[in-house]
Amino acid sequence: MDHQLIALVNKLQDVFASIGVQNNIDLPQITVIGSQSSGKSSVLENIVGRDFLPRGTGIVTRRPLVLQLINRPAASKPANGDKKEDEKPEDAMAKVQVNENNPDEWGEFLHLPGQKFHDFNKIREEIVRDTDKMTGKNAGISPNPINLRIFSPNVLTLTLVDLPGLTKVPVGDQPRDIEKQIRDMLNRYISKPNAIILAVTAANTDLANSDGLKLAREVDPEGTRTIGVLTKVDLMDQGTDVVDILAGRVIPLRLGYVPVVNRGQRDIDQSRSIASALENEKRFFENHASYASKAQYCGTPWLARKLNIILMHHIRNTLPDIKQRISSQLVKYSQELATLGGAMGETNPGSVVLSTITEFCSEFRSAIDGNTNDLSLNE
Ligand code: GDP
Ligand code: NA
Ligand code: MG
Repeated sequence: MDHQLIALVNKLQDVFASIGVQNNIDLPQITVIGSQSSGKSSVLENIVGRDFLPRGTGIVTRRPLVLQLINRPAASKPANGDKKEDEKPEDAMAKVQVNENNPDEWGEFLHLPGQKFHDFNKIREEIVRDTDKMTGKNAGISPNPINLRIFSPNVLTLTLVDLPGLTKVPVGDQPRDIEKQIRDMLNRYISKPNAIILAVTAANTDLANSDGLKLAREVDPEGTRTIGVLTKVDLMDQGTDVVDILAGRVIPLRLGYVPVVNRGQRDIDQSRSIASALENEKRFFENHASYASKAQYCGTPWLARKLNIILMHHIRNTLPDIKQRISSQLVKYSQELATLGGAMGETNPGSVVLSTITEFCSEFRSAIDGNTNDLSLNE
């Protein structure tokens, strides 16, 4: 996730905390839906930038995984910080964090309180173990979520939800009404008005049959919180591409589509790293005749950037309300002070908050300047 956005949100939350206002920035939950094995878990993992989710062919994700990312400053700061001075904001926006072996990053499960997982492979093993425990090994599903928190200096405090894929025919221990059960499970997460829906469709399947898009449209008919994600672009037949879809000529989506290339099954079997996968993805789009001219709008970094912009819009939209509340508190306090014969000093915390919000708004504007042309976001 993006450093600039993390820093801004932290700053706001610090000033809110300093005057005793609880976390007012209720960031949206990011959810992924789509058919089984369309690449949902792979997409989420790439966004987070760490390897920790079970992925693979067949029904691998069999319970919702509610993943809370929690920003926690590093215990020890690196000597010259981790943001280069000459880095343009646009570059920072597009960056996907890939930090291996960071002692300041760990995971904790709700069902294993106090146990810190610094090894992200162990997190994956525990997700698999607890899934099997709850649902059996034979393709059973359960709406009972696994709750995982990841603490890191490199994440925005934000919730992401990985969900089982839509499927039609029951296999193994699955109930006869598996389709309805999964649908109901997904609806519970994506119908929340502050859920951002990543509707994942494999590019080597027909978009018109996309279960994810169909379900997203039911809960978000205006398309104000649905992003289309096209996976497996690398597996499309020679001579075919997703250019028409990206141009909105097939099924138009207000927030558009992002084509991505995740790790294939062979990459998973060979434990290919996220860094190497992202490099491969970049090379794919830059060297492909259909995408070379628009490579900057393709791939995981662009998806991350799009999410950042949506989150910033969300934060900005909630600011006037917060500002209003703080202003009225300020008025109340200054009246109380006046009756006591005091005067408002320069350093009263309320005015610090207001100036920080104002500062935030202008920093925000420069951060998104020029980045929103292709995002028809409502303001
Ligand atoms: P989910 O069931 O939707 O969560 O999908 P997974 O993320 O578990 O991926 C399912 C399978 O598709 C795995 O074998 C992945 O390696 C593979 N896969 C996912 N995305 C891509 C992609 O963009 N390209 C290729 N070649 N394989 C992918
Ligand atoms: Na799968
Ligand atoms: Mg999955």
